[in-house]
Amino acid sequence: MAEDNAPRRSAVVMAGTRGLGQAAAAELLRGGYRVTVCGRDGARLEEAVAELGEVAGAEAVTGERADVSAAEDVERLVEGAVAHYGRLDTLVVNAGGPPPGDFADVGMEDWDTAYALTLRSAVTAIRAAVPAMREGGFGRIVIIGSSSVRRPIGGLVLSNVFRPALTGLVKSLAVDLAPEGITVNMVSPGRIDTERVQTLDARKAERQGTAAEEVRRASESAIPAGRYGRPEELGAMVGFLAEERASYVTGQSLLVDGGLVPTLP
Ligand SMILES: NC(=O)c1ccc[n+]([C@@H]2O[C@H](COP(=O)([O-])OP(=O)(O)OC[C@H]3O[C@@H](n4cnc5c(N)ncnc54)[C@H](OP(=O)(O)O)[C@@H]3O)[C@@H](O)[C@H]2O)c1
Repeated sequence: MAEDNAPRRSAVVMAGTRGLGQAAAAELLRGGYRVTVCGRDGARLEEAVAELGEVAGAEAVTGERADVSAAEDVERLVEGAVAHYGRLDTLVVNAGGPPPGDFADVGMEDWDTAYALTLRSAVTAIRAAVPAMREGGFGRIVIIGSSSVRRPIGGLVLSNVFRPALTGLVKSLAVDLAPEGITVNMVSPGRIDTERVQTLDARKAERQGTAAEEVRRASESAIPAGRYGRPEELGAMVGFLAEERASYVTGQSLLVDGGLVPTLP
C-alpha cells in the first residue's frame, strides 16, 4: 500500500477495460496507484473507468481509447499518462489475443497483425515508458503473456510464436534496465475466467455440438486446482510485482495457472 503523504505512483494498463487487464488495474488502484487504462470500444471504456473509479475514487482513473496494435495510439497513451499524472512508474503490457489457427490456416496478413498486436505493441509501449521511469529512478514493466510461453497450445500458432518472443524481450530488458531500478517480468495466465475464455468455450461447444458448461467441465478437470482462475488472482501477481518490495524480482516469467502446465518452472 502507498504510504500516507507519499506521492502516488502512476501506471498504464494497456487493454485494461475487461478481464485480466481490468483486474490488474483494480489491484494497482488498491495498492495506491493512479491508473490509465485503454481499450478500443468507447462504451466499454466508459463503463470500465466507472467500475475502476469505485475501487479508489474517480480522480485516480483515466481512460483512453486506443488500439494497442497501432503504434501512434500506444505512444499517445503512454505520453498522455505521463503528462496527466506527471510520472510513470508501472507499465502493464496487455493486448487482445492473436487470431487462432494452425500454420496452414494463417496467412501472411495474420502474421503481420499478430506481430503488431502482440510484439510491436509491447516494444512501442516500453520504448515510450522507459524515459519517464528512468527519470523517476523506479520502474515496473509487467507483460501479460500466456501459458504458450512454456508449452505451445494447439491451434494457436501465432500465440506460440510471438508470446515466447516476449520472454526474450523480458530477459534482455531486465538485464539492461536493472541498474536503473526498473524491473521487467512476465505473468502468464493458464485458464482464467474472463469473457474471452467464456467466448472460446462457447465456440468450442458449438463446434462439438455440446453445451458450453460441458466444455468448461472438461477443461477444468485438466487443471490440478480443479477450476478456472479468477481475474483477481492474476491481478494480485501483477500488483505484487508493481510494489516497492518486489524490487529484486526481475527477468522472470511466472505462470498463474492452478498447476495446469506440467513443464518444469
Ligand atoms: N483469460 C485467460 O485465461 C487467458 C489465457 C491465456 C492468454 N490470455 C491472454 O491475455 C490477454 C487478456 O485476456 P482476457 O482474458 O483478459 O481477454 P478479454 O476478457 O477479452 O479482455 C481483453 C481486453 O483487451 C482489450 N483489447 C483487445 N484488443 C485490443 C486492442 N487491439 N487494443 C486495445 N485494447 C484491446 C479489450 O477491450 P476492447 O475490445 O474494447 O478493445 C478488453 O479490455 C489476451 O491477450 C489473451 O489472449 C488470456
